[in-house]
Amino acid sequence: MSSTNPPRLGWFGLGSMGLAMACNLQEQLTKQNLPALHFANRSLSKGDTLKELGGIPCQDISELVQACDVIFISVTNDEVLTSVINQFTSTNSLGGKILVDTTTVHPNTTASLATKLASHNCSFIAAPVFGPPLTARAGQLLIAVAGPPQVIEIITPYLQGVIARGVIRVGEDPSKALLLKSTSNFIGAGLMYLLSEAHVLAEKAGLPASVLESLIEANFGAYAANTSKRLTSGSYMPAAGQAPNSALELAIKDVGIGLGIANEQGVRLEVGELSMGAMEEARAFGEEKGRKLDSHSVFGVVRKKAGLRFENEAVKKRDGLTEHDEGGET
Ligand SMILES: *[C@@H]1O[C@H](CO)[C@@H](O)[C@H](O)[C@H]1NC(C)=O
Ligand SMILES: *[C@@H]1O[C@H](CO)[C@@H](O)[C@H](O)[C@H]1NC(C)=O
Ligand SMILES: *[C@@H]1O[C@H](CO)[C@@H](O)[C@H](O)[C@H]1NC(C)=O
Ligand SMILES: *[C@@H]1O[C@H](CO)[C@@H](O)[C@H](O)[C@H]1NC(C)=O
Repeated sequence: MSSTNPPRLGWFGLGSMGLAMACNLQEQLTKQNLPALHFANRSLSKGDTLKELGGIPCQDISELVQACDVIFISVTNDEVLTSVINQFTSTNSLGGKILVDTTTVHPNTTASLATKLASHNCSFIAAPVFGPPLTARAGQLLIAVAGPPQVIEIITPYLQGVIARGVIRVGEDPSKALLLKSTSNFIGAGLMYLLSEAHVLAEKAGLPASVLESLIEANFGAYAANTSKRLTSGSYMPAAGQAPNSALELAIKDVGIGLGIANEQGVRLEVGELSMGAMEEARAFGEEKGRKLDSHSVFGVVRKKAGLRFENEAVKKRDGLTEHDEGGET
């Protein structure tokens, strides 16, 4: 590996997850007096936060590759990732460099990109992350890494305690990290559905949501409590014009990957299918209302199935809705 010591770091992809992680990384580099993070994006908006923190913008991927030894990538989906990696390989200057991809994609996409990058003498680490953008900015994500162990050693100091609160080592096969991510998405989506049902039952039967929520926190832990709060706080249905914490569209993509893998393996994920059906219904509801919904909006669908309104008390209060408004109980 030709990387300098310390390696010069770069970042490609400044969506809500990418920007949050890149900012944490840049802050750490500043703290340690290390060379600043170079970055690029599909669309570079001026004066962005990362630049203010000391990051150095590059005009394109070729400039980024010239300036860096290790480049992190965070984009939205398989199609974008494949196109971005093609732009990296077409620079023909990846020899000895390290690419670390944090995007959630199908394991097969990762496998074929790893093979392609190997033919360019580029080391590849698959490093999908677990947690929403707010958790990302707090540096509290989990990250799973898979790839050559000596390369993982090089990048670990920039992960543990910087981008993530914990690093899970999956082994040498990059695609397995994505298999773990997909399995985790399946668990997360199922939990959303399960807690939605619990809250609907509580509401119908007259058990206060706050009491149920304290039980969830005390007995099932912080992750379940966070999911519960995304329901009860109303953030599952953001106010008009507000962006969701985690986009429903991305969750549909993510759970779809898991269902596809299960199908290939001849396994039925019935809970996954249930979640997917509810997310698709939520998407239709959002389109009808012209609202961007959060992945937790399955809560609204589960509510409607039980004869409740899609909007819970928190949403009604926030949006100033009364029972006479359109969309009331049916
Ligand atoms: C980076 O590019 C993406 C895709 O074009 C865009 O959605 C995002 O807002 C950009 N981020 C910044 C900080 O410019
Ligand atoms: C993924 O790869 C496996 C094994 O090579 C194959 O059976 C499967 O059809 C592929 N799936 C997709 C969606 O390409
Ligand atoms: C990769 O490395 C091998 C052996 O060092 C060399 O022969 C080959 O030309 C390199 N390929 C590229 C694309 O850099
Ligand atoms: C729960 O949410 C808090 C605040 O948003 C965050 O700091 C914490 O890391 C989250 N915990 C888990 C386990 O997701």
